[in-house]
Amino acid sequence: MAIIVQLVQGLQSLAAHLTNPANLSQILSTLVIGIAIILILTQIGQRINVDKNAPPEVPYWIPYLGSAIAFSVNPLKFYADNRKKYGDVFTYTMVGRKFTVCLGVEGNNFVFNAKLADVSAEESYKPLTTPVFGKGVVYDCPNHMLMEQKKFVKWGMSNDAFRAYVPEIEEETRNYFQRWNNKTGGRGDLFKAMGELIINTASRTLMGPEIRALMDDSVAQLYHDLDDGFQPINMFFEWLPLPSYFRRDNAHIKMRNIFKQVIDERRANNVTDKTDMLQSLLNQTYKDGTPFTDVDACHLMIALLMAGQHTSSTTATWALLHLAEHPHLIKELLAEQKDVLGSLDTPLSFDAMKNMTLLENVIRETLRLRPPIIMILRKVIRPITFPGTDYVIPKGNYIAASPIATQVDEQFYKNAMSFDPHRWESIKEEESGESVDYGFGKIAGGGARNPNLPFGAGRHRCIGETFAYVQLKTVISTFVRMYDLSLTEKGMPGQDFTKMFVQPVLPVEINYTPRK
Ligand code: HEM
Repeated sequence: MAIIVQLVQGLQSLAAHLTNPANLSQILSTLVIGIAIILILTQIGQRINVDKNAPPEVPYWIPYLGSAIAFSVNPLKFYADNRKKYGDVFTYTMVGRKFTVCLGVEGNNFVFNAKLADVSAEESYKPLTTPVFGKGVVYDCPNHMLMEQKKFVKWGMSNDAFRAYVPEIEEETRNYFQRWNNKTGGRGDLFKAMGELIINTASRTLMGPEIRALMDDSVAQLYHDLDDGFQPINMFFEWLPLPSYFRRDNAHIKMRNIFKQVIDERRANNVTDKTDMLQSLLNQTYKDGTPFTDVDACHLMIALLMAGQHTSSTTATWALLHLAEHPHLIKELLAEQKDVLGSLDTPLSFDAMKNMTLLENVIRETLRLRPPIIMILRKVIRPITFPGTDYVIPKGNYIAASPIATQVDEQFYKNAMSFDPHRWESIKEEESGESVDYGFGKIAGGGARNPNLPFGAGRHRCIGETFAYVQLKTVISTFVRMYDLSLTEKGMPGQDFTKMFVQPVLPVEINYTPRK
């Protein structure tokens, strides 16, 4: 009892002390001096702790946070400004972690083709991906298992599957944009439309008709909850007691159960004639005889859904914005369709679209200028030297590649910042080095010295590229058949770098007029 009385008296005297104006100004000035001392010590610490062989470090004022604010406002400017000061390789601190960015073609090659013994993708991405995708797949398993999972996925992406997908994607696009149809046209929310359409087409084709049927209600909401848990904050903190974390974990369980129920029903009814990805993931076995279970298949399906959604929907949005900016390209695209198909009423097909060079180049140019992924990470697990320098990147740092730096470099692309799909008619993309098979099919030399790498390179290279092209080509071709489009008075939107996948600053509206 006596202790409680003493405590209350102590608190009362502290409150009286704090509310006295003379004491308050004393406390404030002590606080300011304290902060100043911490900032000075941080600066001194940065200078004393310099490892002579470590790459140069970007100085910062706020301990722990480091350069996080400058970086997240505009990472491209942050890289460009510091590249002028420190060269292609430098380290910056963010939220208590050190990132060594490696720019230029050599930087890309260094990160994408780094050895498994030196760096780990799993260590970089796991806190973000495992709670969303689930256990046992992608970055929640040894790398050799991921390579085999990529092989299972590639088997489900055959040309025959793509032939079946194109009419389905065309139909989904027509059905979706019927809602925009009126005689005079109007203004549409392009980003929202592309987000909804891409998830509809991916679920109709890859995920299977059962999932597509649920897309308008339950699955769409679950996808949003998973997506809210797939933000930069989740990369730094695997779990926090925030509503978005609870919703993410809940959505993961429900989504897995939905896939599992579809698999169970297919098994119960002996369904084997489906061409979708879900079917091709069933009954797979790893080389060492370990079965790839139905739960693994559910988790990998969630991973594919997440990997392909924002990447493709932002690319479709930017592509149509750039077409609206350059209306002559829309006319050329329609002329190309007529040339290849004979008429704009002929349905699109996988084989016919292979002959539509401009269409292909519109997507390639969009991905050069507006890649959705601008930073690729690996965690250093054994100190590594950057070739041609004395820089040794210490264990524990993350190495980062940012292929957009070469993609918008005048050294490789004339008028690099302008959207010009025709430039690709005179560029031959060389895949350097000998072919390598990491376990999911041959890729040329890791291909990492090509300045244009929106799909990455090396063992972690994207396996969704062909599907993404098929999906984007079909959506864009169908859209320009249905509507003419132009930019609103706001012009081209800026880029929002605060998201996991860089997207246009919202809202993104577009003017459209139905074609006769
Ligand atoms: C990997 C970009 C669409 C599935 C990657 C990587 C990039 C990328 C840059 C390399 C990541 C790294 O090295 O850390 C893109 C872009 C897309 C797209 C720009 C569309 C425009 C898709 C689609 C799917 C997909 C549609 C699946 C249906 C994957 C998978 C990986 C990957 C499974 C492998 C991850 C690994 O091995 O670590 N993607 N992607 N992507 N992507 Fe894509």
